[in-house]
Amino acid sequence: MQRGYTVRAIPMTVATRALRLATFLSLGLTAAAAGQSEASEDTGPADDPAAVNPTPYTQAAEKRGRTHYLRHCQICHGFDGRALENIDFEATDLTDPERWRFGTTDGDLFRSTKHGAGLDMPPFEAELDDAEIWELVHYLRSLGPEEYRAAAEPENPP
Ligand code: HEC
Repeated sequence: MQRGYTVRAIPMTVATRALRLATFLSLGLTAAAAGQSEASEDTGPADDPAAVNPTPYTQAAEKRGRTHYLRHCQICHGFDGRALENIDFEATDLTDPERWRFGTTDGDLFRSTKHGAGLDMPPFEAELDDAEIWELVHYLRSLGPEEYRAAAEPENPP
């Protein structure tokens, strides 16, 4: 199976990048629309799958997200997010959005972290407040392929 992110190492032309970004954005919109029609209860904007990270991207925010990650997540998802070491929990490879089962929007990552996902991903509601989870979302984006970052990171972050 061809996986999009494997071409990451090959230098992309501007046109290719633009095309991939456009594809990603339209997929995102479709996913957002699907999510909306499935949503049965109103859990507020922070739990909206279509939510965009309300914390502006900065390197400082991403770095704080990394601190939360190393403290709470690496035990299962691994130092680099690939979840290669821990065989007790089949934790998701967080560098590969194509394998994610619970969505790829900022809102989806927020929800999976706050409320848990599947059987073995614990909720972090008690350990992390919403602002910390949004910082984590910035860090999770930095682990994955570039096209999944584009929406979150402006060209020249302060
Ligand atoms: C106790 C082990 C464990 C810890 C700690 C843990 N996770 Fe997970 N995580 C899992 C497992 C297992 C899954 C897969 C759940 C499934 O697919 O049924 C998962 C899934 C996820 C998903 C959903 C991926 C998808 O398929 O959509 C996200 C996002 C995630 N974890 C983020 C985090 C973050 C962020 C932290 C730290 C705050 C964290 N995890 C801590 C075990 C863990």
